[in-house]
Amino acid sequence: MSDTTGRTIFLDGEEVPFERDETIFQVAERHRKEIPTLCYDDRLDAFGGCRLCVVELEGARNPVASCTTKAEPGMRVTTKSGSLEMHRRVLLEMVVSENREVDVDELSGYASQELKTLVDRYDARTGRFSGKTSGTSRPDDPNPFILRDYENCISCYRCVRVCAEQEGDYAITVMNRGFDTQITTEFGGLLKDSSCTFCGQCVQTCPTGALGDLKALRFAEVEKEVEKTRSICPYCGVGCAVDIMTKGDQVVGIQPAMDGPANEGALCVKGQFAFDFVHHPDRLKTPFVRDDHGQLVPATWDEALDKAAAGLLEAVNEHGRHSLYAVASGRAPNEAGYTLQKLVRAGLGTSYIDNCSRA
Ligand code: SF4
Ligand code: SF4
Ligand code: FES
Repeated sequence: MSDTTGRTIFLDGEEVPFERDETIFQVAERHRKEIPTLCYDDRLDAFGGCRLCVVELEGARNPVASCTTKAEPGMRVTTKSGSLEMHRRVLLEMVVSENREVDVDELSGYASQELKTLVDRYDARTGRFSGKTSGTSRPDDPNPFILRDYENCISCYRCVRVCAEQEGDYAITVMNRGFDTQITTEFGGLLKDSSCTFCGQCVQTCPTGALGDLKALRFAEVEKEVEKTRSICPYCGVGCAVDIMTKGDQVVGIQPAMDGPANEGALCVKGQFAFDFVHHPDRLKTPFVRDDHGQLVPATWDEALDKAAAGLLEAVNEHGRHSLYAVASGRAPNEAGYTLQKLVRAGLGTSYIDNCSRA
């Protein structure tokens, strides 16, 4: 239960309560203030790197980063003013000047449009700044999942932090500082030679598309709108929520649902990248049964179920009920798992049943 007793700040003149340890940004977000961010991901510890979220604090000499400043009783905070908007615009102009590209494809990743959206909102493509660019891309990394296009990197470190704090992998880190800042693996090697599990979380949190979803980007040239359909990953029993991206009838990619109760934006390599089976020519779309010559031939569901029932009964009659062992699929819903154990226990008379989700 939240406890805001005696804790209030003044947010754009309005007195509002806050909870212990809340930052100014969290209080402001709850009160629907639009404060721009780039290095912020609410699943991660605040970092305070981009300074886009600055607000004015009465009594402070300079604007403060709202994502790292804790709310204190009596604070008087201004979230929007002419000088704050100017500050944000100049910051964005500078970010634009040191990156190769702002308009990355939306298939790049869940957060990939954040920089583009802010740059457009602040009309920050002025070209007033020019000079050195930062980040060196790694087109030599042959992994089939993750584009490493660091010439679009803004050094927000979200990728490094999500890899460490969410995935616990510490596969990538930051090398050097300033214009020489580089996101890298240990000894600058390939991702496959690091402790990377190819979970894709760094891709999905990257606000610029510097890290991109290579599998989804295969469909970038298809001239159809991207549609997203909320679903549940079919692989195991955890039940991670996903948004399936389609162009027409083609599944083009998967994005984790940031509000998925079981995964909160996380996926494993299978849920994230292994969706090609949907359109694979070898995919089974009808049951098969063996004919009298042992060859698999297409059948109707009734034929297949009759054949399976006859085979199970034959095994029980010949070898006894404990000759059977059932494994429920982790892809099946609870109800199907329940029905299978009922069939095995009550119908066939054995308790030899397990579920692959235990693995
Ligand atoms: S794919 Fe996952 S494990 Fe690999 S670097 Fe990105 S966050 Fe880390
Ligand atoms: S690669 Fe993306 S997430 Fe990582 S630091 Fe660069 S911009 Fe941020
Ligand atoms: S969002 Fe607060 S400093 Fe980047």
